[in-house]
Amino acid sequence: MEFKEVVGRRRSIRYFQSWRKVEREKIQIMLEAARLASCAVNATFLKAIVVIRDNIPRETLDALKTPVSALTIELAPVHIYTYVDMAAYKGAQARLKKLVDVGALNATHGWSHKFVDEFVWPNILKPLADNPNLASVAASAASDAGIAICQAMLAGVDEGLGVCLTAFQHDAINKLVKAPKEWIPLFVLLVGYPAESWEAGGQRPRPPLEEIFFEGEYGKPFKADPKVTEQMKAAKMIQAPAPLPWRKEEIKALARMFGLPE
Ligand SMILES: Cc1cc2nc3c(=O)[nH]c(=O)nc-3n(C[C@H](O)[C@H](O)[C@H](O)COP(=O)(O)O)c2cc1C
Repeated sequence: MEFKEVVGRRRSIRYFQSWRKVEREKIQIMLEAARLASCAVNATFLKAIVVIRDNIPRETLDALKTPVSALTIELAPVHIYTYVDMAAYKGAQARLKKLVDVGALNATHGWSHKFVDEFVWPNILKPLADNPNLASVAASAASDAGIAICQAMLAGVDEGLGVCLTAFQHDAINKLVKAPKEWIPLFVLLVGYPAESWEAGGQRPRPPLEEIFFEGEYGKPFKADPKVTEQMKAAKMIQAPAPLPWRKEEIKALARMFGLPE
C-alpha cells in the first residue's frame, strides 16, 4: 500500500476477529518497523513484550482490563505490551560514538568521539542518565516510544491488520511477562484482523489543521492549501469522515454477532 493510504486507513479498531490467529511474520514486521524508528541518542527507549491473548490465564486477562479497554482487550488475539526503558540513556555515549563511526554524525556538524566524550556525554546526557525522573527525560522517552509505536501501528495496517493502542492495568501483566523494573509501562498495542470493516465507520473527527498548527508564531494558523488537500484525498490519505451512512447498522450487526448490548 502507498504510504499516504496507510496513514489514511489507520483507525483504532475495536472489534477484532477474536478467533483468527495473526501470522507471526506480520508481528515481526510491526516490531521491525518500531526498531527502525528514529530514536533519541540512538537509544531504543521503546521495549515491548508480545503476548498471545490465548496464552494469558483468564484471571490475568480479566485483571488487565480497564473500563475504557475491557472488550477490546478481550477481542484482540495479539497483545503487544509497550514499555519505556528509563535506563536507555545509559549507553548513549557509546551509541553516539558508533553514529560517528558509521558516518551519521560527522565533523561537518561538529561531531567526533572527543566531542561526545568531553562535551555531549558529561554536559547533556550523563545528567539525564543519572536523573531518570526529570520531566525532560520523561518527555523525550515518551516521544521516542510514541514514534516507534506509531511505525508499528502503520506497518500493521499495511499488513491488513487492525490495531488499537489501549490502556491496561499495569500490575496485572507483570507476573506473566516479568518486565524489568526500569521499564515503565505505557499502553498495550492490540492487534488482530478487524471484525468491523476496515473503514471502521470513517476517518475520525479531528480539529482542522489551522486550529492546531501555526506558522511563524502562535496564533497565525498554518493555512491549508485546498489543492494539496484534494491531492491527499486522491491519495486516500484524507478519507470520508465518520460516521459513514451505514455505521449504526454495522455496530448493531457486530453487537448481535458478539452478543453485546446495542
Ligand atoms: C496513547 C493512546 C492511548 C489510547 N488509549 C485508548 C484506550 O484506553 N481505549 C480506547 O478505546 N482507545 C484508546 N486510544 C485510541 C484513541 O481513543 C483513538 O485515537 C481515538 O478514538 C481517535 O481515533 P483513531 O485512532 O481511530 O483515529 C488511545 C490512543 C492513544 C494514541
